[in-house]
Amino acid sequence: MTAAQLTARRAGPLKGTVRTPGDKSISHRALILGALARGTTEIDGLLEGDDVKRTAAAMAAFGAGVERLGEGRWRVEGRGGFSEPADVVDCGNAGTGVRLIMGAAAGFDLAATFTGDLSLRGRPMNRVLKPLGEMGARWICRAGGRLPLTLRGGHLTRIVYTLPEPSAQVKSAVLLAGLQAEGGCEVIEPEATRDHTERMLRGFGAEVEVREVGGGRHILLPGGQTLTGTKIRVPGDPSSAAFLLVAALIVPGSEVTVQGMLLNPSRIGLLDTLGEMGADLSVTNVRDEGGETVGDVTAHHSELVGVEVPPERAPSMIDEYPILAVAAAFASGKTVMRGIGEMRVKESDRIALMSAGLAACGIGIDEQPETLTVIGAKRGNHLVAGGASVTTHGDHRIAMSHLILGLAAEAPVSVDEPGMIATSFPGFVELMRGLGAEITEAHPAAA
Ligand code: S3P
Repeated sequence: MTAAQLTARRAGPLKGTVRTPGDKSISHRALILGALARGTTEIDGLLEGDDVKRTAAAMAAFGAGVERLGEGRWRVEGRGGFSEPADVVDCGNAGTGVRLIMGAAAGFDLAATFTGDLSLRGRPMNRVLKPLGEMGARWICRAGGRLPLTLRGGHLTRIVYTLPEPSAQVKSAVLLAGLQAEGGCEVIEPEATRDHTERMLRGFGAEVEVREVGGGRHILLPGGQTLTGTKIRVPGDPSSAAFLLVAALIVPGSEVTVQGMLLNPSRIGLLDTLGEMGADLSVTNVRDEGGETVGDVTAHHSELVGVEVPPERAPSMIDEYPILAVAAAFASGKTVMRGIGEMRVKESDRIALMSAGLAACGIGIDEQPETLTVIGAKRGNHLVAGGASVTTHGDHRIAMSHLILGLAAEAPVSVDEPGMIATSFPGFVELMRGLGAEITEAHPAAA
């Protein structure tokens, strides 16, 4: 039975050592590059969340052999290219899935119709369609570049593309299309974003040149390249670990270690920010796993102080601002998060929903188009009241953030649509309970 809502309340300290599921960004890419490649790709530690399972199904629809061998262990038989899917490709809730797959498919002689859930059908696809169109792909779509849309792939030509917004999804879509393009492509990102596609392309034998320019990068990819299947070990997702680490920081007496967390510098802006807030965090056992740096991160309950988060840090923690806002609620002083406009076009308008949720829990906030300010409740020894029932609009990170808030607030906090948590973090509730959290379900019949 699906729970109608979940409620988190204050209990004892959180204690334990855990691993989070595999990184979502790397999991999508492993399946897509494996399907584009020739030969066998074996993946270990794949995130088996709903988003990634949609990408696995999509890769089978585009002609790859996709097989689950065991928990987190998948084999992809790539055919060296995509063939035309026989039906509509439904990417569910996954912006990364649909945008990267469109890029990968654009260089092949096929037509493919993409759709997704209510949230994904509301998100802008123009940011990907524009460069793909300049390369020679065609499409027909709903107003504003919305799904469902039909992409007509074919012969692509070289593009030199400067990203108008810092988006690893757009960068990756162009790079994947560039693999098939005559003359390849060059992507210029004025602000560096997560670089998993570049790293993984190399792992599949592709030639990719990356030049660091100021705070950004130029990525040069020769066209007409063939990928060769490989082995991939997916590290733990820092965006999922973020919920556990912040929970430990705000629940008194807690100590939680997350093992095997991805420490790619383009993904750990949250650790820097929490460090500046006075968080007691330590990183040990740092090692290399398949071209990515991983380590074990331990968080102890801490007295946090509010900070100004610089806008240039946004790409390295864009998915972590909701949970940072929760940490900020338990700090003394205010936390100002600037340059975060991209949060408004995620699975939901995350600035609006965090503002509404925190306000309902008694936290002072100020919402601006590109800035969110949270007034820490410890100022003047106010408490975080909680006691709200939060509408998540089906956004997994909004749901998890408010549940973590409920673990340390005065009164319990409830969230709706808890099933959506499984898009990125299957097993979240069980894992939290294993650490000592009190999270209860209400079922439709009992509600
Ligand atoms: C992702 C990039 C980011 C991030 C998303 C995953 C990726 O999106 O928010 O969860 O895997 O490339 P944008 O590219 O839209 O910033």
